[in-house]
Amino acid sequence: MSMYRFITLEGGEGAGKSTCLAFIEQYFSERNFPLLLTREPGGTPLAEEIRTLLLSRREEAVAPDAELLLIFAARAQHLAGKIRPALARGEWVLCDRFTDATYAYQGGGRGHPLAKIAELERLVQGDIRPALTLLLDLPVAQGMARAEARSEKDRFEVEQQEFFERVRQGYRERAEAEPQRFRVIDASQALPDVQASIRRVLDAWMEGRA
Ligand SMILES: Nc1ncnc2c1ncn2[C@@H]1O[C@H](COP(=O)(O)OP(=O)(O)OP(=O)(O)O)[C@@H](O)[C@H]1O
Ligand SMILES: [Mg+2]
Repeated sequence: MSMYRFITLEGGEGAGKSTCLAFIEQYFSERNFPLLLTREPGGTPLAEEIRTLLLSRREEAVAPDAELLLIFAARAQHLAGKIRPALARGEWVLCDRFTDATYAYQGGGRGHPLAKIAELERLVQGDIRPALTLLLDLPVAQGMARAEARSEKDRFEVEQQEFFERVRQGYRERAEAEPQRFRVIDASQALPDVQASIRRVLDAWMEGRA
């Protein structure tokens, strides 16, 4: 199963992931490349139920390990039910958030040791890793202002600015550690410029591969 077709989209709240997902979908459909669009946490009925559990605000404090294991439980289901089969069929897969988000939010944000996340990553994913990760990076305040306009805040969105600063830092450290996989996009740009940056990255990635 070749992994170069596994692409992920990452970034903090309001960075523009969902907006750019639609743009990338169009990029693929114009070229007639089969693309599976999906997201985490979620992506299958069971994994979406786990997403609801994770995002809903509740009286009971959620133990950090419980949160982490729910995320990886959803990921195991998503990989088995959707991602692996699509890659095996030779389709491209574009996932809105994946394990880098776990490193950024549960590692950077919540303070889990990164080695613990890496252990779960190996356990759940085996050797499946995205080949290309687009990181939409922008100042936290700007992302929060964009996200603000939306509906009621979920269990992550109610966190304070310092939490999201650690998330951003977590993402940037991942990108620095794996420059061959990551492409950091300046998401503070106007949307057409963000899209142009994404198009350049995809054009370069497709060359000789598609
Ligand atoms: N480059 C941009 N310039 C200005 N506004 C933008 C830009 N990109 C996205 N937006 C707007 O910002 C808001 C948040 O974008 P979007 O929902 O795509 O972010 P997201 O990264 O998916 O957020 P979340 O992590 O919360 O799902 C939307 O209203 C969107 O229209
Ligand atoms: Mg989104």
